Amino acid sequence: MPASRRGSGTVTLPTGQTLAFHTRTQDEGDLPHATKKTMADHLRKYESLFTLTPQRMRMIVDAFKDTLEAGLEKNGNTVPMIPTYVFGWPTGNETGEYLAVDLGGTNLRVCLVTLQGSGRFEITQTKYRLSEDQKQEDGQKLFDFCAECLKTFIDQHVGEEPGMINLKPGDKLPLGFTFSYPCSQNKIDHGELIRWTKGFGNPNTEGHDVAEMFRKSLQKYDVPADFISLTCDTTGTLIASHYVNPKTKIGCIFGTGCNAAYMEKVADIPKIKSLGIEGAAEIAINCEYGAFDSFEHEHLPRTKYDQIVDETSNKPGEQAYEKLISGRYLGEIMRLVICELIDEGVLFLGQETYKLEKSYAFDTAFLSLMESDPTDELLMIIGIFTHFFAVETTLAERQFFRALAKLIGRRAARLSACGIAAIVSKMGYLDEGCSVGADGSLYNKYPGFADRIHEGLIDVFGDKGRNIVTYHAEDGSGVGSAIIAAMTKQRKEGGLYLHV
Ligand code: GLC
Repeated sequence: MPASRRGSGTVTLPTGQTLAFHTRTQDEGDLPHATKKTMADHLRKYESLFTLTPQRMRMIVDAFKDTLEAGLEKNGNTVPMIPTYVFGWPTGNETGEYLAVDLGGTNLRVCLVTLQGSGRFEITQTKYRLSEDQKQEDGQKLFDFCAECLKTFIDQHVGEEPGMINLKPGDKLPLGFTFSYPCSQNKIDHGELIRWTKGFGNPNTEGHDVAEMFRKSLQKYDVPADFISLTCDTTGTLIASHYVNPKTKIGCIFGTGCNAAYMEKVADIPKIKSLGIEGAAEIAINCEYGAFDSFEHEHLPRTKYDQIVDETSNKPGEQAYEKLISGRYLGEIMRLVICELIDEGVLFLGQETYKLEKSYAFDTAFLSLMESDPTDELLMIIGIFTHFFAVETTLAERQFFRALAKLIGRRAARLSACGIAAIVSKMGYLDEGCSVGADGSLYNKYPGFADRIHEGLIDVFGDKGRNIVTYHAEDGSGVGSAIIAAMTKQRKEGGLYLHV
């Protein structure tokens, strides 16, 4: 790549993306761009707003830990600490064919998972992109869509050949449903939706048993599936990751939403005392900690941009922690800062900026592309601004954007570390150390996200923070859900805790 390129054209980056770029062939003087010094001054201001000191992180972790404990005490807390009725760890020897349906964000996924034992599995899957309309239509319609897709998938995969589903007439396949929204559960095949998150808003669903709604849709489409378990992506991640790496103690998602699950002793979950489950038994807890600090906003460092994101969301006040971290919101936070500088006359004077002024026009993927732009002239950033927003940028501005993306991405990773640290500290995992299975678009695609989480853990715990290591998890929503269905079938066939 030449250090300097002028003119228009396209560039293919190591990531495989092809982007159009356009640099000015003349001096960058004929549009009133901001000077390098102005941009540096602005950057300093944002640095102080978006930087989290180790001391502040430790305060957040302390409050977080108290919140987790309070959620185990009684029902109805904002961070609900949901007992999932997934009892203990998989043995690694769960076997058989399972269907998994994964509804949790951008896509609907239907999978056939073959568990082969010894931590091995095979998966066949189809993805369907959900439209924005589908996220707002009547809830039953959304579940009908899931059932219809599953039916098509099964029809396409039934057959005698290897890799196909060998289904005799009248047979049903066990099904694990991954529904990644907070549901209060009083047994594993039931779940009352507490609230929609991640921009979903389908009416007639909150307060309803979504397992029942989905079962109704399965019946309607005559799907040969036996609904075994309702789980969330984090619980699936915890279990799937442990299936292949038994050192795993925490499962996390950093994607469209953020959340974690871990294993808790029943004796330490006071709110389920009345269920008559042995105190020494262990149950996975779906923390739903994206809701940390919701409504009261006492602990998290919210900037005015975060407040705008919150107030203009479909759920103001809710998911306060998630709104500072997750992929759904980071691009919007960046866009709001850029818009402020446009309003102040610092950026893009004399250019049409209406494309940038549209809510959620700035994708979080742009932040990671900006941070990973390998060229001196920041050609990727040129491409983003010309191609998607039809505005021209100077090198000083592009350097500013890259630095701003870094501030927002780094804050998200450091805050993510706080949630993990709260579980580690509550459970006393620090000395012995543990693996954390992590998944989601931010974790997997944002450059340096994992390293920044690790730096954050060291800032919170000192050198011992190195004992906590995150790694790319197994597919919790597909494979994890199948393992959970297998564990549940085994448990029920063994007559254990049939009431949950
Ligand atoms: C949101 C959901 C939660 C899920 C997380 C990650 O926080 O409420 O259930 O685990 O997103 O997808």
